[in-house]
Amino acid sequence: MPVITCIEDLKQLYRRRVPRMFYDYAESGSYTEQTFRENSSDFAALRLRQRVAVDMSGRSTASTMIGEPVTMPVALAPVGLTGMQSADGEIKAARAAAEFGVPYTLSTMSICSIEDVAAHSSKPFWFQVYTLKDEDFMSRLFDRARAANCSAIVITVDLQILGQRHKDLKNGLSAPPKLTPASIANMMTKVPWGLEMLGTKRRFFGNIVGHAKGVTDPSSLSSWTAEAFDMTLDWNRIAKFRKMWGGKVILKGILDAEDAKAALSVGADAIIVSNHGGRQQDGALSAIRALPGIVDAVGDKVEVWMDSGIRSGQDVLKALALGAKGTMIGRSYIYGLGAMGQAGVTKALQVIQKELDTSMALCGERKVTDLGRHDLLVPQDFEGRWA
Ligand code: GLV
Repeated sequence: MPVITCIEDLKQLYRRRVPRMFYDYAESGSYTEQTFRENSSDFAALRLRQRVAVDMSGRSTASTMIGEPVTMPVALAPVGLTGMQSADGEIKAARAAAEFGVPYTLSTMSICSIEDVAAHSSKPFWFQVYTLKDEDFMSRLFDRARAANCSAIVITVDLQILGQRHKDLKNGLSAPPKLTPASIANMMTKVPWGLEMLGTKRRFFGNIVGHAKGVTDPSSLSSWTAEAFDMTLDWNRIAKFRKMWGGKVILKGILDAEDAKAALSVGADAIIVSNHGGRQQDGALSAIRALPGIVDAVGDKVEVWMDSGIRSGQDVLKALALGAKGTMIGRSYIYGLGAMGQAGVTKALQVIQKELDTSMALCGERKVTDLGRHDLLVPQDFEGRWA
């Protein structure tokens, strides 16, 4: 068993184990990937303030997210096609999250269906909703999430149209994978992955196949987003979805203070500062640089969380110190899942918690909920002076 010291170790194992098509799907940003890269590199521009001779005993990373207790304020983000990274991947991730005490968010674009994940995990999870044109499908989706006991929905507001990820087109990304000479040749080098996949029936978009109308190729992410997603989505429709659901609503994909205010006006319980992991608007500001302006605009009225670019507990600390009340990780746990299944997700969470706890101690802090701007050295032009 290799020694896992950090998220990068999991990524290296993941890259060896999982077919290229699905590794590339996770490890891509759109177009030039500028925003994808800067999401992580901008974290490095922030420095942690070291304090010494401060009692560091009795520390705690525990907090709450929308009132739910969490072992640390790090939820698992919705990730499409998770069940292609490892057989039954959504069930494995949901179980790891439940055992660790952090929220799991199931994607609309998951392989295991809502019902399936509910039947195989012990705690309520959150359900991420893509807004489709088909009103009937949407209302059934909310009914299904309610029946599965989901404790909140996460509406993604930054994907009405898919930002192009070049590698997905070149690889012919689909679930299940289309058999071409190139994909077969690559999959032949991924035998343990393939044997596990042959052992499960869960190889299709479980929330879509048999549920959505008017989709010509339900195995292709790009064709069904193009055909089924609602181009007319506006704040009124989002407010209507909130009513239809009737429970807690988290809005994911806010990068601008004006949009954050609009999210507030439709009654969001939390908003997530996010650029979809650099997968949508390439050239957009990194999420960590967008965070302070949004916290200043609405942070006292709604819980502001952030995702996009977090690869360590130090990154989590930086986001919390800049005013986020919670964070989400996507790729960081997918690396673990692809590398080692459920145990790999647990490992990713352990790595991040240990890093968060140690760096918190070295900042002279004992509670994650006490973190603040005073724990950071922020470059004067960090948010940028844009005209
Ligand atoms: C879907 O959410 C994607 O980013 O591929």
